[in-house]
Amino acid sequence: MCLWTEYALVSSSSALSGRRVLLIIGGGIAAYKSLDLIRRLRERGVSVRAIMTRAAAEFVTPLSVSAVSETQVHQSLFDLTQEAEMGHIQLSRDADLLVVAPATAHMMAQMAHGLASDLATTALLATDKPVLLAPAMNVRMWTHVATQRNLATLIADGVSVVGPGDGNMACGEFGPGRMAEPLEIVAAIEAKLAGTSNNASSKLPLSGKHALVTSGPTHEPIDPVRYLANRSSGKQGHAIAAALAKLGAQTTLVAGPTQMADPAGVDVVHVETAREMLAACEAALPADIAVCAAAVADWRVEHNAEQKMKKDGKSPPSLTLVENPDILKTISRHKSQRPALVIGFAAETENVLAYAQAKRTRKGCDWIVANDVSPDTGIMGGDMNKVHLIFAETHEDWPQLSKGDVADRLVHRIADYFEELV
Ligand code: C5P
Repeated sequence: MCLWTEYALVSSSSALSGRRVLLIIGGGIAAYKSLDLIRRLRERGVSVRAIMTRAAAEFVTPLSVSAVSETQVHQSLFDLTQEAEMGHIQLSRDADLLVVAPATAHMMAQMAHGLASDLATTALLATDKPVLLAPAMNVRMWTHVATQRNLATLIADGVSVVGPGDGNMACGEFGPGRMAEPLEIVAAIEAKLAGTSNNASSKLPLSGKHALVTSGPTHEPIDPVRYLANRSSGKQGHAIAAALAKLGAQTTLVAGPTQMADPAGVDVVHVETAREMLAACEAALPADIAVCAAAVADWRVEHNAEQKMKKDGKSPPSLTLVENPDILKTISRHKSQRPALVIGFAAETENVLAYAQAKRTRKGCDWIVANDVSPDTGIMGGDMNKVHLIFAETHEDWPQLSKGDVADRLVHRIADYFEELV
């Protein structure tokens, strides 16, 4: 028995039309937003089946959820098992995506530990489909080390996260913890489902395109054992390369030294210095898309020593630095092989939008992904990112997302760009 056949789908030309979402509504005040989320999804032709936890039913009635989703709401593990053979397993697998909104601190803790105490957590443990969380909780609960530890575990397990945003909370406090708005969740669902197809034989949106990505730091030698470096982890650039490949692009990743595994389905060229990175990028052209996410060292030592430099009891050596080539600028201004779409990154600690827009013009690239890397944001080396996507005339402010989700969403925008050109 297919659990979805009873649905009357709203006809729509949306990219989400015909997709199936299993929405798990957790017990938090933000549960009221789940009604609007269901409505927005239904407008886009998505079939929504809902599971509510016992606590969720204290905030929003199952009758309301059933009315907007136009189907029965599931609340009890035992009812469902009686109703249909292996009901909870089938429920969790018949969807294209599981969305937990609101995801409470308790729900995240249960998921991180693989607990299955009710229908919601059992479905989450039994599923073989991707999972997207929209956390919502008090600011102290969100920033608590236990929640952040659970979040890191869930991201490492491949779970995607949208939000939470900053704002006034029902409890009277202010800060991160507000659930992402329904339309932000819809955008995250769209990005998450972009790489998966309704029809396995359909052509992927970036098939036939060649994408070039730079990622990670560069190391600039001082002598055979010492080098100049920076704190870039390569997480964002590697995730972008993986997302491009997932949407069908033939992808070349030019990677500086990182701890990251090579993404599946991507041609990886490993380099150390900025000059090696530039040479590898030029060798990889022509490309349709270039995404320069690497934190290339601005300077290198003019003359690095051939042998290890020794302390000789006198004054320490002074290093003369010279400027490294600018890879993004070189690709953006390439005379014969400029990719159709060149995207740079701007890591700023103040005036993020203004500095990023100026950088876009200076470098000659098409878009800039700008982020605030002030030390208190935890973005540098962390798993989450909050970016603005800067175009020539406009910009978009994205909610806080995992770096994997930023990559999916960016690549989805890239696919839209090429689709609009056709
Ligand atoms: O100049 P800045 O380092 O702030 O610019 C950041 C953007 O430029 C990033 O996209 C980075 O990958 C790129 N970049 C580059 N080569 C450099 C310096 C930066 O490709 N030498």
